Amino acid sequence: MDYESAYRTIMRLAQEPNAAQAIVNYLHDHFPAYSWVGLYWVEGADLVLGEWKGPEATEHTRIAIGTGVCGAAVASGRTEVVAAVSRDPRYLACFPSTKSEIVVPIFAGRSVIGEIDIDGSALNAFGPEDQRFLERVAAVLAGVRTSTARAARR
Ligand code: SME
Repeated sequence: MDYESAYRTIMRLAQEPNAAQAIVNYLHDHFPAYSWVGLYWVEGADLVLGEWKGPEATEHTRIAIGTGVCGAAVASGRTEVVAAVSRDPRYLACFPSTKSEIVVPIFAGRSVIGEIDIDGSALNAFGPEDQRFLERVAAVLAGVRTSTARAARR
């Protein structure tokens, strides 16, 4: 997988009107291992599902911070890579096909404002390159989100 060219595409998509959704769609469509891709945004003490793409909707549209792998990543501010969800007691099940998961926090300054959540249908679907790449994508999404919020206030 050419992460550099994917990153360049994402930088370009960040200029589009529905940038967050366009980036989610691209991650889902371009990386066969990324079976379900979603963004959760922090609202008070919860994470609320925003843009997503995958074969099915999830019932977890609101997750308390501290709950699940999603909540853990926000609470710690660190990327969570779960090689086998069946062996992680924090895991909140969404799809029977999910075998592994990566959750990458999105920061505005030092605060976590959201996260990228990706489910994989294979065990150990996410390696160190995925982590590095998705942490750069999270920085792009932080810019998209904060400029959208600024535009909404004008
Ligand atoms: N598995 C996540 C919940 C979100 S779904 O994967 C879309 C978790 O454990 O927090």
